[in-house]
Amino acid sequence: MVAFRVLCFSIGTAVSAVFAQPTELEDCKCFPGDPCWPSEAEWASFNRTVGGRLVATVPLAAPCHDSAFGPYNESACAALRSTWWFPETHMSSSSSPMAPYFANASCDPFAAPQSQCVRGTDPQYAVRAAGAADYRATLAFAAARRLRLVIRNTGHDYNGKSTGAGALALWTHHLKDTAVVDAYESAHYRGPALRLGAGVQAHEAYVAAHAAGLAVVGGACATVGLAGGYSQGAGHGPLNSYAGLGADQILEWEVVTAAGGQLTASPVENSDLYWALAGGGGGTYAAVVSATVRAHRLRVVSVANLTFSAAGLSKDVYYDAVRTYISSLPAMTRAGTWHNWVLLADSFSLHPTVGPEMEASDLDALMQPTLAFLNRSGIPYEYRVRQFSSLLEAYDGMFPRDNVTEFSLGGRLIPRSVVENNTSLTALINIYRYINDQGGMIAGSAMDVSGFPAGGVQNAVNPVWRHSVFNNVIGLAWDPLDFAANKVPQETITNDFMPKLEALTPGSGSYSNEADFRQPDWQDAFWGSNYKALKEIKNKYDPHELFYALTAVGSDEWTVHEGGRLCRIGT
Ligand SMILES: Cc1cc2nc3c(=O)[nH]c(=O)nc-3n(C[C@H](O)[C@H](O)[C@H](O)COP(=O)(O)OP(=O)(O)OC[C@H]3O[C@@H](n4cnc5c(N)ncnc54)[C@H](O)[C@@H]3O)c2cc1C
Ligand SMILES: *[C@@H]1O[C@H](CO)[C@@H](O)[C@H](O)[C@H]1NC(C)=O
Ligand SMILES: *[C@@H]1O[C@H](CO)[C@@H](O)[C@H](O)[C@H]1NC(C)=O
Ligand SMILES: *[C@@H]1O[C@H](CO)[C@@H](O)[C@H](O)[C@H]1NC(C)=O
Ligand SMILES: *[C@@H]1O[C@H](CO)[C@@H](O)[C@H](O)[C@H]1NC(C)=O
Ligand SMILES: *[C@@H]1O[C@H](CO)[C@@H](O)[C@H](O)[C@H]1NC(C)=O
Ligand SMILES: *[C@@H]1O[C@H](CO)[C@@H](O)[C@H](O)[C@H]1NC(C)=O
Ligand SMILES: *[C@@H]1O[C@H](CO)[C@@H](O)[C@H](O)[C@H]1NC(C)=O
Ligand SMILES: *[C@@H]1O[C@H](CO)[C@@H](O)[C@H](O)[C@H]1NC(C)=O
Repeated sequence: MVAFRVLCFSIGTAVSAVFAQPTELEDCKCFPGDPCWPSEAEWASFNRTVGGRLVATVPLAAPCHDSAFGPYNESACAALRSTWWFPETHMSSSSSPMAPYFANASCDPFAAPQSQCVRGTDPQYAVRAAGAADYRATLAFAAARRLRLVIRNTGHDYNGKSTGAGALALWTHHLKDTAVVDAYESAHYRGPALRLGAGVQAHEAYVAAHAAGLAVVGGACATVGLAGGYSQGAGHGPLNSYAGLGADQILEWEVVTAAGGQLTASPVENSDLYWALAGGGGGTYAAVVSATVRAHRLRVVSVANLTFSAAGLSKDVYYDAVRTYISSLPAMTRAGTWHNWVLLADSFSLHPTVGPEMEASDLDALMQPTLAFLNRSGIPYEYRVRQFSSLLEAYDGMFPRDNVTEFSLGGRLIPRSVVENNTSLTALINIYRYINDQGGMIAGSAMDVSGFPAGGVQNAVNPVWRHSVFNNVIGLAWDPLDFAANKVPQETITNDFMPKLEALTPGSGSYSNEADFRQPDWQDAFWGSNYKALKEIKNKYDPHELFYALTAVGSDEWTVHEGGRLCRIGT
């Protein structure tokens, strides 16, 4: 391991003094066991500052092991194992990341009771924030003691951005306030809006909006955090083609900055911070307390789903059917629909496609080219189309429940032009065949967000989204029983599958929230032409680099060493 020395300070040292000219050698965040690590008494004192809301991490799977956290408990462990792949199991925890790679088998529920259960990659402590005052106290303590700070909301992040070894977490999950603003007025927007506390999850926002006859942009996944990584990273979901991405909805952010200031960031106030937070990625510019988003009045929402199997078909016919569907996406998304589809070697499923403000008959008409091909080719399929009178009813009626994604992932935004060009579409389908042949999963979320954000607003969403037809996610199954066995599939994603997709889509990029966390040249792939401007805004609002998250803007100045210590590069 690279040599390091750590800074140590007595309590009460002013924040400005802490950051006085750290030398290269000294530049690591304080780690548990270091002399600079706060004593028990200092943690207790900090706990009083945050009203007793400091939580010492107990790894979620502790009941599955005999460890310092307690004895093995067979029934509690069995219950955890049977629900481990549900987001709900992790999102109420103060520490557990959903992405299994980032749990690092530190306390693995599927491993033997005698195997280790340590905090490992989990934060050491979390502050269960009840409001902005807890944000200020947590950021100040982390800055003064030079602790690694993590912002944890739901724990969905695939890049492990909401977890971190030796860290103190600002835990936003319990900020559940929602408020309807009937008539929001600004230079850029007049209409209904919803103010969402940092911990509000997609389905909770759908319910709150519905009660006022409204709908908001959120994920296909019910549990992602709308004011958190979802909207800060872009945010795709059923209303995208009708209303734009999650980031395009933001009217204003209420934040606490690294320096402890409480600010409003909107297109007219602290507009650089507004711009960066809307699409420039979570966990790096400031800590969001609430987001106010555009709300939409929908009279009708239609939904269709479709599945067919490869059984009994020649591969050529199967992939021709897939090709027919994919080639319909530019027209379908232009007409206002959004789609989630999954392609496996043995089955294709569209679950579902949504047409906001679209009658069922119109959505059905858009599906005809695909259905006609299936009929013509004698391919059996299951198809349903239904009409609802609100997004919430449509969601509850026809959206499948999402598991935590048990795959090593890669991802690429596919330009509309690639799908519209017969030659490159053939090449894309051939890549899909290749990936499926090796057991890979391929998924797409299709939308047309070319006309957003509305009202002349600008934001930091990677511009390649605007001419993409879908976000393509590829994956190889995660082996939960053998952590090390996942290394080879991950390398296949990074070194074989992703380069093929990249070669076909030069100049495009990847959705930072659904990508390969080992993506080479991620600054360009994730943040595109905005990277330089985003880094300047990061440096302006967080000059002492309190905020860090893997692949976040500015994280290229830092590295995580084996064992989890976070240090500035060059130490
Ligand atoms: C099962 C599953 C389904 C998904 N479905 C979708 C989908 O339908 N559409 C889609 O677009 N994406 C989807 N995603 C990806 C999702 O958008 C990202 O995982 C996103 O990071 C989730 O944000 P979060 O705040 O809920 O998660 P967290 O993991 O808690 O946080 C993610 C990041 O956001 C930062 N952050 C969180 N809260 C704040 C805050 N208040 N202030 C500043 N930074 C903050 C954190 O530091 C971290 O960097 C899905 C992921 C999973 C695992
Ligand atoms: C913080 O204080 C509360 C209330 O006294 C207590 O329940 C909790 O265990 C304390 N947290 C830690 C980490 O000691
Ligand atoms: C084991 O866990 C269950 C469920 O959480 C709990 O009710 C029970 O008391 C635990 N048993 C022991 C011996 O701690
Ligand atoms: C979803 O997760 C649950 C709980 O862990 C598991 O029982 C189930 O098999 C998973 N389903 C799929 C399709 O992976
Ligand atoms: C389509 O949705 C209906 C609910 O309306 C559900 O019963 C069915 O299983 C779904 N079919 C597919 C193919 O997803
Ligand atoms: C496909 O076949 C089904 C069943 O015969 C029929 O109801 C449907 O109209 C056909 N659709 C198209 C697009 O040809
Ligand atoms: C498009 O490519 C496919 C597969 O190569 C070919 O069968 C088809 O004829 C082509 N269509 C056009 C319009 O060129
Ligand atoms: C279609 O794609 C091929 C292969 O990527 C490319 O060579 C060709 O120039 C494209 N045609 C058009 C009209 O863009
Ligand atoms: C992750 O696991 C590896 C292998 O057990 C271990 O060497 C490393 O220290 C762990 N990382 C953290 C942060 O715990």
